[in-house]
Amino acid sequence: MYKDKNLYVLDQRLLPHQESWLCCGDATDVVKMIRDMAVRGAPAIGIAAAYGYLLAARQLAEAGGSVTAHALEGAYEELAAARPTAVNLVWALNRMARSLMNVAADAPSAERVCLLEAEAQSIHQQDLVANLAMSQAGASLIAAGQSVLTHCNTGALATGGQGTALGVIRDAWAAGRIKGVFVDETRPWLQGARLTAWELQQESIPYHLICDSAAASVLASGKVGWVIVGADRVAANGDVANKIGTYSLAVLARHHGVKFMVVAPLATLDRDCPDGSQIEIEQRPADEVRALAGQPVAPAGAPVHNPAFDVTPAKLIDALVTEAGVVRHLDRDGIQRLFA
Ligand code: MRU
Repeated sequence: MYKDKNLYVLDQRLLPHQESWLCCGDATDVVKMIRDMAVRGAPAIGIAAAYGYLLAARQLAEAGGSVTAHALEGAYEELAAARPTAVNLVWALNRMARSLMNVAADAPSAERVCLLEAEAQSIHQQDLVANLAMSQAGASLIAAGQSVLTHCNTGALATGGQGTALGVIRDAWAAGRIKGVFVDETRPWLQGARLTAWELQQESIPYHLICDSAAASVLASGKVGWVIVGADRVAANGDVANKIGTYSLAVLARHHGVKFMVVAPLATLDRDCPDGSQIEIEQRPADEVRALAGQPVAPAGAPVHNPAFDVTPAKLIDALVTEAGVVRHLDRDGIQRLFA
């Protein structure tokens, strides 16, 4: 939420037990909030970065500097490096920087700051509009009578509102198409247990929280029609980077004849990235795995491998849902058609 020249962020690390808002006064504060996971989820990171860029521009203008994309390169680089995998971050920053290129050369800095504020708001608003369109399109693919399974948190908290995969689940529930939701707890940050369960509970959508390792037996039970997830980056050939554990769900889904849906706005599609092998996968600190909710569970200093994301090959995905349409046989041409 942007108010009185500050960005306020609901601290997602404390949910669901505490609702606490953090105030960001400059771009460095925003970088910290993104890197430390106070704000997370690809679209929400992009929106926060856009406001971070605006805060940097405002600070520059107040110091008497001239607000140009060149003068803001430092803030751009700092924000872009906060988390490497979600392409929405760089996408939003590019939109902000580009908006400055279209302004008259003699436009005063105050005017440029106003323009950046409008652009950040528009990035935020357009994400919500995209989510609403994707929710309807995704829900319409689901035949009534079964449950769905989801991973991580892809709801209002992770986006400009409504959500991507969770948006589809909201609409599918409202339309009477699903019986309920199985929610992976999503180690190590527990976005499923803490955030998705919280969002579903608020909307009285029936769900069962499961350990990540229970997904195989749940999919084998025949109760689940679709696995529905979001994305942090979709490569030009349709390979999808998303929260660690997504790839194993896709393999399990194919094995058990369960359909696999990815829901992502066009801002998450990276046509400059040829395939999933080229996506940078963020490595997170070892203590996220050695500890659980701040309590050590492994021997001190245990060596850890902690990739935050994995890549699901396009061939395991039955539907990619975007605001520009649905691709059923995901490949390079399918991705291209979305931009036609
Ligand atoms: O590490 P996180 O919590 O930022 O990871 C989030 C995810 O992987 C989501 O599935 C993805 O960003 C899509 S959110 C609409």
